[in-house]
Amino acid sequence: MDMNKFVHNPATSPITSKKELSIEVNRVNYHLHVTPTSRLVDILREDLGLTGTKISCEIGRCGACAIQMNDQLVNSCLVMAYQANNTSICTIEGIADEDLHPIQRAFLEEGGFQCGYCTPGMIMAVKSLLAKNSNPTGEQIGESLSGNLCRCTGYGGIIRAVQSAILTMNKKETKRDVGFSIENVNSMSKDMFVSEVGWVFEHSPWVAEKAWESGPFQTREELLKTMIRIVQNAEGSSQLALFRAHPDLGTKLKMSEVSKKEQGDIGLDSLSQEEFTQFVSLNKSYVEKFGFPFIMAVKGQSKEAILSAMVERLKLSYEEECDTALNEVYKIASFRLNDSIR
Ligand code: FES
Ligand code: FES
Repeated sequence: MDMNKFVHNPATSPITSKKELSIEVNRVNYHLHVTPTSRLVDILREDLGLTGTKISCEIGRCGACAIQMNDQLVNSCLVMAYQANNTSICTIEGIADEDLHPIQRAFLEEGGFQCGYCTPGMIMAVKSLLAKNSNPTGEQIGESLSGNLCRCTGYGGIIRAVQSAILTMNKKETKRDVGFSIENVNSMSKDMFVSEVGWVFEHSPWVAEKAWESGPFQTREELLKTMIRIVQNAEGSSQLALFRAHPDLGTKLKMSEVSKKEQGDIGLDSLSQEEFTQFVSLNKSYVEKFGFPFIMAVKGQSKEAILSAMVERLKLSYEEECDTALNEVYKIASFRLNDSIR
């Protein structure tokens, strides 16, 4: 019997003989010689020195080694070298341009990690999710991260980071013109909710702070009704503070950026001297009588209609005018919510 044929020869063994591998990683082409038993994660970490991709369970359970292969999220510990031939790979090192990727920044800002071992895989999973769905619900976020285990954070910071990244990325792409979905709003942390929704009641974030506790909301209308109910049930002193938080129409005093835009849209920012004098004089009479500035939802109104409403409302009693002003506050909030939530 020829015993030689049972002797392992590394030079000819199909297990150890190296194979050619052509692969694009983070927009760079590589031609490597790798053993057929090499896994993609080994190639990335050992041959290419891209150690941002981590190894933990090595059986596809923890997501620490997650990367994108031809835009699909895969666990690189489960991909053999030959399966990666002629593919395009993106690892954590490839997602930033000159600055950090918004998802990376959100993880930093929201405390989305402790030891950080799971973070590259988490970030790749979030990137993959947002590439398919830019406005995922809380449930969809949870599902997309179900293959990524974190032993340190308790996930609170991670979820906050994902929500923050969604807001940043959507804002960047759509500005405020298209706005958020109600699901998006429902998945916000309290701070984020107040910062994104609080502005609809002029300089009065307390309305949004209370409203957040009543979420989630089925529709934008339900959110609006909840906010209106909060104002209706508020102490008289809080309602008065809300009135007083509004700018004087046409006089550019203490105007928020939103008020500037709303008033600018109907030309209140470019009044003639005569119009300006009229606005100042009516505002003065109004404030003297009621103790708060004249409030009116100006969208779709003309300067003439506003001036005439001022004259008419100056004839009302204090109680009647408080009711009228409250209704205008609700109308303004409704317009603003319509503009910001789909
Ligand atoms: S190391 Fe790959 S999934 Fe855990
Ligand atoms: S931050 Fe340590 S495992 Fe996630």
